[in-house]
Amino acid sequence: MAKETAVSTANETARNIGPVILLGPPGAGKGTQSKQIVDRYGVPQISTGDLLRDHVARGTELGLEAKAIMARGELVPDGLMYGIVASRLREADCQRGFILDGFPRTAAQAGWLDAFLKKEIFDKRPDKRPDKRPDKRSEEKSDDSAKCPPVVIQLLVDYTQLLLRLTGRRSCPTCGRLYNIHFQPPLVDELCDVDGSKLLIRDDDREEVITSRLAAYETQTRPVADYYRAQRRLIAVNADRPVDEVTAQIFGVIDRHSQNECDPMNDEARIK
Ligand code: AP5
Repeated sequence: MAKETAVSTANETARNIGPVILLGPPGAGKGTQSKQIVDRYGVPQISTGDLLRDHVARGTELGLEAKAIMARGELVPDGLMYGIVASRLREADCQRGFILDGFPRTAAQAGWLDAFLKKEIFDKRPDKRPDKRPDKRSEEKSDDSAKCPPVVIQLLVDYTQLLLRLTGRRSCPTCGRLYNIHFQPPLVDELCDVDGSKLLIRDDDREEVITSRLAAYETQTRPVADYYRAQRRLIAVNADRPVDEVTAQIFGVIDRHSQNECDPMNDEARIK
């Protein structure tokens, strides 16, 4: 049994799943679910919030600009986001796919991402298909060779539940594990189960900041859902369920997507 599980995990972590975009309001569970996806498929989580917090902690130029904006619960300007996302997506570990957690967050960011993926990721990757037929149809297809379009998973959660998730969130500064005093409390109050570190409350999880983060989501990030819905790329899941149930729904979406659109043998599904 253990051997079977190891084999199935090895299969999942060798598979191309392409870009996975987790879309949802603050507290929807993007970070929590990203970690489950990382464990199962072995692709990296790219959290723009974490990247920005890292810049803030290191006191970089970007960090200094972003710090006050984040503290108010507003979005960092689009132009400041593109550079950090582009350089992260160019790293080698993104080849089989990656999870975008917190990006795109405006319609402009979504348009930028499409252009970036087309120009810098898909068009540049070599065609690894084993069966490259030397006919015209095949040449046309190879323009789209490694194309695996993003799957956009929208996490739907009730507003009151979001407030509980955000006000109750705690995180471990050492291993990054997330807790929630209401839903997933640590075994010992305020201490990480894994390494015993004192758990932290995020600066922007204060009630007055939460309100403006949720408002920013409504006005600036909802149009991102419309953008992907128009492309028929948006798949909504009920994220108002226990973590494991949400994870199972997400794995189902990713598995179906990667079998239909990312399998290098599945030409007909891939070429649109
Ligand atoms: P960011 O760090 O991305 O924060 P966010 O989008 O507000 O999302 P959160 O991290 O708060 O929530 P989450 O959905 O990851 O939920 P989590 O899994 O932690 O962004 C922070 C700031 O950076 C932004 O405000 C902005 O200023 C800036 N920024 C970032 N990206 C940007 C961009 N692209 N453009 C411009 N600015 C940008 O879960 C929350 C809690 O709920 C946890 O305690 C967890 O344990 C619990 N929980 C999770 N799932 C469940 C469940 N199913 N049941 C019960 N509890 C659950």
